[in-house]
Amino acid sequence: MSADETQQPDRQAPLADPENGTVPGDPASAAVADWPAYYAHSLGREPRPLFAKGVKLARDAGLEPGQAVEIGFGDGTETLALLADGWRVLAVDPTPEAREVLQGRVPAGDVDRLEIRAQPAQAVELPPFDLLYAGYALSFLDGAAFTEFWADVRASVRPGGFLIVNVFGERDTWAGRPDMTFIDRAAAQRMVDGLEVLALDEEDADGSSFVGDKHWHVFDIVARRPSR
Ligand SMILES: C[S@@+](CC[C@H](N)C(=O)[O-])C[C@H]1O[C@@H](n2cnc3c(N)ncnc32)[C@H](O)[C@@H]1O
Repeated sequence: MSADETQQPDRQAPLADPENGTVPGDPASAAVADWPAYYAHSLGREPRPLFAKGVKLARDAGLEPGQAVEIGFGDGTETLALLADGWRVLAVDPTPEAREVLQGRVPAGDVDRLEIRAQPAQAVELPPFDLLYAGYALSFLDGAAFTEFWADVRASVRPGGFLIVNVFGERDTWAGRPDMTFIDRAAAQRMVDGLEVLALDEEDADGSSFVGDKHWHVFDIVARRPSR
């Protein structure tokens, strides 16, 4: 993902509230995200570029719609795109308002292929799946939960299945926030060890967000479990 303003998820989104005592731009600030306000802000957007890229690579590789998982679905844009493409989707997000927003947006004809869990990723037992997408979400798991959840992801992806995820890097402005995970390149490479890596891109650039100027350090990953 580039630093282009239109492609960032959190520009002007309320990841921290300057009115409630948190410190805008202070990576040590224990800000509580106002996710409902974030969804209201992001509704109507296009699917994230990483999602579009990963899904295209999956299609080009001949992957047929089967079982997909989205972690941290937010306003539901990517889950709706997967449903429209014919996937069954397990959509996971612990924020109850995310479920409400998604339920209000899903077409009647797609409802039967959607399962929503209003739970944190680490509390969900993953089914065997063919594609998992997690955009700007996995970093909201703490270190232990992140490690355990990723091991579960690796164990549950079917042969030939795709993982399309991003994770904040250690030079991100928010690095150091408690209860979150930030990785370096070596850790990103360990995440995909033994997988076929179709993209491991790194954004490391100044930009902006709701809470002011921000340095975006993000690893974008598209990887596939070998077919055999
Ligand atoms: C920055 S938003 C990204 C939302 C959406 N993927 C997008 O690109 O707009 C992060 C999302 O992760 C969710 N989230 C936070 N902690 C989580 C956890 N432990 N497991 C799964 N999702 C989580 C939040 O509720 C929020 O909807």
